[in-house]
Amino acid sequence: MKNLILGITIVMFAAGSVLGSDMISLPAKNGNVNFPHSKHMAIKQEKGCKACHETDKGGKISGLGKDWAHKTCKGCHETLKKGPTKCGECHKK
Ligand code: HEC
Ligand code: HEC
Ligand code: HEC
Repeated sequence: MKNLILGITIVMFAAGSVLGSDMISLPAKNGNVNFPHSKHMAIKQEKGCKACHETDKGGKISGLGKDWAHKTCKGCHETLKKGPTKCGECHKK
């Protein structure tokens, strides 16, 4: 039981440090996109991390770029009718 509680505590710590890396700046010539990561991790949706990542561990996204982002990011905002869908709402000069 003690080990179980210790284990859970460690898992919560690990999750906390991932949640800590909050705002990710995605560079774009027409204005960088400030992406609130932890806010997105907290969004309740079917695919979880895999809405954006290949695995549930996350990490670098190899296909990241204009086409991926407009399909993945904008696509989800349109589907859920939540989150920015206009150019200037994502790209900030
Ligand atoms: C809505 C999209 C989205 C969701 C959902 C998402 N992430 Fe991410 N995550 C990103 C993007 C974008 C990056 C930046 C990737 C890059 O720079 O290649 C990133 C980066 C990361 C990194 C690398 C750390 C860093 O700061 O660069 C980790 C680890 C990570 N995510 C874990 C997770 C985990 C675990 C989940 C699920 C609980 C999750 N992510 C859910 C989009 C998302
Ligand atoms: C939901 C947020 C979002 C919306 C809305 C959006 N974009 Fe983007 N856009 C991004 C992201 C994220 C990237 C990829 C950034 C990266 O690769 O680091 C990107 C990349 C781009 C690039 C490539 C920039 C470069 O340096 O190569 C262009 C050009 C672009 N977007 C134009 C537009 C235009 C025009 C609109 C409106 C019709 C638009 N975007 C709407 C998020 C968005
Ligand atoms: C799986 C669905 C989903 C994906 C994929 C997704 N988003 Fe979102 N996004 C949301 C939702 C839902 C909200 C609204 C959250 C809220 O208001 O609480 C949101 C809100 C935002 C906001 C506004 C945050 C704020 O504080 O008002 C930005 C900026 C944003 N998303 C950028 C992105 C970018 C950039 C990507 C791609 C790297 C992305 N999103 C991918 C669902 C998604």
